[in-house]
Amino acid sequence: MSERPYHVVLGITGGIAAYKAPEILRQLQQRGAEVRAVLTRAATRFIGRVTLEALSRHPVVVEMFEPNVNVAVRHVEMARWADLLLVAPATAHTLARFAHGLADDFLTTLYLSARCPVLVAPAMDAEMWENAATQENLARLRERGVAVIPPERGYLASGIEGEGRLADPEQIVARALVILAARPYARDLEGEHILITAGPTCEDLDPIRYLTNRSTGKMGYALAHAALARGAQVTLISGPTTLAPPPDAQVILVRRAEEMYRAVLAHMEAATVIIKAAAVADYRPKAFSPTKLKKTGADLTLALERTPDILAEVGRRKGSRLLVGFAAETEAHLEHGRQKLLQKNLDLIFINDAASAETGFAADENAGFLLDREGDVVELPRMSKYELAMRLLDRVRERLARRRGDAHRERAEERG
Ligand code: CTP
Repeated sequence: MSERPYHVVLGITGGIAAYKAPEILRQLQQRGAEVRAVLTRAATRFIGRVTLEALSRHPVVVEMFEPNVNVAVRHVEMARWADLLLVAPATAHTLARFAHGLADDFLTTLYLSARCPVLVAPAMDAEMWENAATQENLARLRERGVAVIPPERGYLASGIEGEGRLADPEQIVARALVILAARPYARDLEGEHILITAGPTCEDLDPIRYLTNRSTGKMGYALAHAALARGAQVTLISGPTTLAPPPDAQVILVRRAEEMYRAVLAHMEAATVIIKAAAVADYRPKAFSPTKLKKTGADLTLALERTPDILAEVGRRKGSRLLVGFAAETEAHLEHGRQKLLQKNLDLIFINDAASAETGFAADENAGFLLDREGDVVELPRMSKYELAMRLLDRVRERLARRRGDAHRERAEERG
């Protein structure tokens, strides 16, 4: 599918690790990419423009307003040209500017205009990296689908040892190529309407207490971002989370399993694909006390009753819709996953290990198995939830194409 070389804009910001940028540029070129460099003003203090112009064989852009260029469209043109915006090294300051939507130089303006994937490789002093402001900015960027290669531990320019060193250029390039390889899929879900559920549900005991689980909604929101990026229309039905709702999605916020059940049934009609990533409570308190439950000297036993199994109900009513479920398991993963797939009449199920701290609930990364009705198992190694969402949507796309191909063939055969 390499009809033309990959187009990469390499953004370089002002940190000591900027000296590694030419190496990244060279490696990208060696792998067949065409690269244009954009520097922040601070980056020019660490690395010469001439070096990058010679290597990229193109003018390097620094200023928003340079002579003889049409400033009104230049960043837009470059944003359209790019298949990937890679920022390496990315300073704390530039991450903050991206996170807050500032557009005070060429690179930040380009970032705001870019519709292509964005990959950032932060590098800074360990204290700056650990600062809550930096971590919050990064979390915000991740939520919006920006891929991040975290810095490594090592000896830093400040003389201390810690986390903050730019990731290995080879790793950065490898990651960039994985993202670029997915380019032919761009907007391949146009025309699909994907209904996604995300987050936990909260089942209230009284005005103060409730039963819930450790889901944060990250996986479901990543799926929503990924589906939107690929051109699908998205309805996101979400339990309580702290995540910002993806722009462009229809978002319906619910609290209890019962509310999620009603919202899903009310919105499934228009959907062509339904993905149930939510961690729905299986039980709720049998009675809700409108006043605070007061303690007594005795032990307390809570009476719980079942909530509706949303996925099973959707499985009964799904018609021609493609239905994807999730399974959080702590043992006999494949066996339990397969049972759920069959019992709930699913087309695909993603099974993850709920016992692992690095993946699954609340983590930024996930790993697991994707299983289909024919018994095919795809193992998805540990990766960001956004990348995993992309791989899952690849399978959804394949199955839709196969199903429609079959239906088309059947109609043709009927017509003789
Ligand atoms: N699910 C649902 N409604 C429920 C419970 C679960 O729609 N009341 C969906 C989840 O969104 C998920 C799938 O069912 O896609 C599997 O959830 P999981 O908690 O792993 O399994 P359960 O069916 O609840 O089975 P068990 O708790 O016995 O493992």
